[in-house]
Amino acid sequence: MTATTRQILVTSALPYANGAIHLGHLVEYIQTDIWVRFQKMRGHECYYVCADDTHGTPIMLRAEQEGITPEALVARVHGEHSRDFAGFHIAFDNYYTTHSEETRFYAEDIYRKLKAAGLIDIRDIEQYYDPVKAMFLPDRFIKGECPQCGAADQYGDSCEACGAAYAPTELKNPLSAVSGATPVLKTSEHYFFRLSDPRCQAFLRRYTQDGRLQAEAANKMQEWLGAEGENKLSDWDISRDAPYFGFEIPGDDGQATGKFFYVWLDAPIGYMGSFKHLCTQRGMDFEHWWKQDSTTELYHFIGKDILYFHALFWPAELKFAGYRTPTSIFTHGFLTVDGQKMSKSRGTFITAESYLQQGLNPEWLRYYYAAKLNGSLEDIDLNLADFVARVNADLVGKYVNIASRCAGFIVKHFDGRLNACDPHALREFAYEREQASIAAAFEARDYARALREIMRLADVANAYVAEQQPWVLAKQIDTAAQRERLHVVCSTALQQFRDLTIYLKPVLPRLAGQVEAFLNIDPLCWDDLAHPLPAGHCINAYQHLLQRIDPQQIDALVAANRASLAPAAAEKTAQPTKSAKITPARDSTMDATNATNAAADSASAAVIGIDDFTRIDLRIARIANAEQVDGAAKLLKLTLELGAMEPPRTVFAGIKSAYNPATLIGRLTVMVANLAPRKMKFGLSEGMVLAASDESGQTAGLFLLSPDSGAVPGMRVK
Ligand code: 2FM
Ligand code: ZN
Repeated sequence: MTATTRQILVTSALPYANGAIHLGHLVEYIQTDIWVRFQKMRGHECYYVCADDTHGTPIMLRAEQEGITPEALVARVHGEHSRDFAGFHIAFDNYYTTHSEETRFYAEDIYRKLKAAGLIDIRDIEQYYDPVKAMFLPDRFIKGECPQCGAADQYGDSCEACGAAYAPTELKNPLSAVSGATPVLKTSEHYFFRLSDPRCQAFLRRYTQDGRLQAEAANKMQEWLGAEGENKLSDWDISRDAPYFGFEIPGDDGQATGKFFYVWLDAPIGYMGSFKHLCTQRGMDFEHWWKQDSTTELYHFIGKDILYFHALFWPAELKFAGYRTPTSIFTHGFLTVDGQKMSKSRGTFITAESYLQQGLNPEWLRYYYAAKLNGSLEDIDLNLADFVARVNADLVGKYVNIASRCAGFIVKHFDGRLNACDPHALREFAYEREQASIAAAFEARDYARALREIMRLADVANAYVAEQQPWVLAKQIDTAAQRERLHVVCSTALQQFRDLTIYLKPVLPRLAGQVEAFLNIDPLCWDDLAHPLPAGHCINAYQHLLQRIDPQQIDALVAANRASLAPAAAEKTAQPTKSAKITPARDSTMDATNATNAAADSASAAVIGIDDFTRIDLRIARIANAEQVDGAAKLLKLTLELGAMEPPRTVFAGIKSAYNPATLIGRLTVMVANLAPRKMKFGLSEGMVLAASDESGQTAGLFLLSPDSGAVPGMRVK
């Protein structure tokens, strides 16, 4: 290690262990990975750790729904996340889990130290309780009507229709989203981290305003902290009641407390747990990195929705437990696709797995994200048409093109040996100034600027090749001088190509590896810019390096991700909370985990519990009559019999395009018998018949369900 070698520990936010990694998540992991790779290429001692965020109510309930233990769920998702990250070349030094002994150790340690510092309070709070499930309900598991606008089916903390924020007790007609029961208010003892203590307020005021945070983040903090003397921070509820999947809070005398650390207490401690595990594996000194006066650097990459946790709660926990605090917190914005929130029904809620399964190259996405990221909190847009155009133009049309136009001549005419370079052409590359400027852009996470400068250099290299026309020179190599010219031109272009590869390596690590193999060189680092490939160096035969994106691949990707759910339902569950505005925790009992869990968990949107399913009363029905409806383009009017005990029902079904009514009379089918009656233009519809269709309901047609022989009207379907 030299005097200028920095020691840098880097993290990305820990993804919840109950949902698939999607392209929104990847903005952060790709951004972090590029930065870490850049630091390593510069020769710094840099480690990148992460883990699955495994605790909390949503993960506990998800495991229950799947009929497995939370540990089994966590283990499975860890495998899926690790696979997806590896697929996008995210090179963690350690990818761990918060459900680890290391994380438990530091959670207990920090808690005890905060307690010893007089910063833990225990007091009673009143909270909604589900009497059927026998559990307290996080805000996101309570649904009801918005107290402001009356919109139905809103969460317990905020309304998606009008944006109002409120307490769950303000919801009208609240219901437990777990069992459907009406929740009751119940008192319970909770543990609080006393952020309102003047020591915390004074520390956070200094910490967030000393220039370490991005200006926009510091302003947000200022807003949340209020003016000097204004005590705006409330104490933070760090405990949850059983049943809860997490770590039990230790009692003073080693006795059980029956209370658990809230997931957001132990999640960032997972950064320490993961690093501790790495230290054990590699024989490194954990203390050196985490002690209060550590000279090492610590950076957290996060999305702007979790700034509150990382810039307030987390540094305060560390500070008053006697640990070092983060050097900085690098906050980024959200992802939109084609200018809109990711959407299942539009097929733009794209999982990492599906992207890879469709055969798309992960480096295309790395490049595109890098071209959009500028180190600010602004959202970035994945414009699918622009994605195709930009990757094809920059990477294939400019960068790879240099090698593909010159390498063949070196192998064919010069046995693969390079010549010295054209000094004039290399000067055009303006080395030192460019190197410093590109490095500064990477350091500032302004990858967009770095890539603009790199592509400008690619333009310079391409202009050189176009001007020298090696393909013309190759036809005129009768004299030694002409041969020499061809040799110098191609060697120079390949030298420029190698240098562009150094610059692009943090973004395109796999491609850089292929180039290293082709150029027959050791893994490239930043210092290599000062050492051109020597004359006489022997390269390997050129193999095609990168495919263009075919727009049809994007169409296929979107089609593969289009949800089979009805659009309205899909939109509702796919709304990423991560695209909510930055707002402070409304009160100290806010359960943001569940909010973000619900968002991160796109896959679970389609999963319901058996309780949900059994609430639907599915019955065998006989179609006693079927007729056209005057003026209705899509509907048939069905009269359905549910057995002798029930009066017949009238149902208007949108199946006119598929059935001649006469052919339906007498048929058995399946209906939803407890659907609230709906007043339609043509009369009252008292239920719904079930039919299969493709996703759009338009191409392949509609197919009414029929029971097997033996079923009779009125039988329950379950
Ligand atoms: O918002 C989220 O997805 C959380 N799982 C992030 C946790 S980051 C850290 F604090 F652990
Ligand atoms: Zn509302």
